[in-house]
Amino acid sequence: MKLNDITGTKYPIIQGGMANIATGAFAAAVSNAGGLGLVASGGMNAEALRKEIRICKSMTDKPFGVNLMLMNPDVDNIAAMLVEEKVGFITTGAGNPAKYMGAWKSMGAKVFPVVASVALAKVMVKAGADAVIAEGGESGGHVGDMTTMTLLPQVADAVSVPVIAAGGIADGRQLAAAMLLGACGVQVGTCLLVSSECPIHDNYKQALLKAKDNSTTVTGRSQGAPVRIIKNEMAREYLKLEAQGADREELEKITLGGLRRAVIDGDVVRGSVMAGQVCGQLKEIRPVAEILKSLYEDAQAILKKAGEIEL
Ligand SMILES: Cc1cc2nc3c(=O)[nH]c(=O)nc-3n(C[C@H](O)[C@H](O)[C@H](O)COP(=O)(O)O)c2cc1C
Repeated sequence: MKLNDITGTKYPIIQGGMANIATGAFAAAVSNAGGLGLVASGGMNAEALRKEIRICKSMTDKPFGVNLMLMNPDVDNIAAMLVEEKVGFITTGAGNPAKYMGAWKSMGAKVFPVVASVALAKVMVKAGADAVIAEGGESGGHVGDMTTMTLLPQVADAVSVPVIAAGGIADGRQLAAAMLLGACGVQVGTCLLVSSECPIHDNYKQALLKAKDNSTTVTGRSQGAPVRIIKNEMAREYLKLEAQGADREELEKITLGGLRRAVIDGDVVRGSVMAGQVCGQLKEIRPVAEILKSLYEDAQAILKKAGEIEL
């Protein structure tokens, strides 16, 4: 089954939830362009998120969803609010959504947990997931250990539900490869940061356009909370402190509010400029519609010609 048959969208492409970035307006722009836009919940309580959901509804009549990080302190209220707002698609991260699954599914929502291992994928399917999003550590933001190339086929072999690939997808070649590895569609994040509609500071976009293949690093491994960001002054200081065995309190002093500093203030020196390893591929700022169209059309052309490849 193709992802767009499940979501009712033009393209088999989801815009990943991105805390402090994926507003109602941005998710609506993605949905209007043919993808599945997701409103992010990171840093919000239920009422603030409800406002963003209503903005999204007012700006699109296309399908959209919400990304819920289950470590959100207001998670119970948010879970109930998603039922009241009849949100059609819910992606989850950082926990097990089993206790909300019954209410969400009887309201008619489809639930796609993000997983970084086969074991977690199996747990999520048992809990009632309609599909799982297998996210490799190439991606921006919080990451697991495995790569998309290795994780995706192993998850696809292990579960009976459709698998959506995430991490390391920014052009048609990568979308085509994900389909060949067993995905029904993809979730992208980093490549949409350089869209005209993305509400991040221009300094953030320029940092992404300047980035090379090896411009990102992973901080927070010592804390069990690895995050992929662009290497900058803050990242280098953090990694140095981590190597010296600094404790959580000391490390949090550096990163606290870091994403907002980058997104809102445009501080790309001391902020957390979250980005995936595909940042080296990003060359220009384009409308979301163009980014999604070329991802899809280029992948289709590549898959059509794939039969000509000789081994
Ligand atoms: C700036 C940024 C913030 C992110 N925040 C979240 C988040 O709040 N919740 C989540 O589930 N994933 C988050 N992600 C991961 C994306 O939803 C998506 O899965 C990922 O970006 C896909 O990999 P890619 O960056 O290689 O495209 C974030 C990614 C980025 C780049």
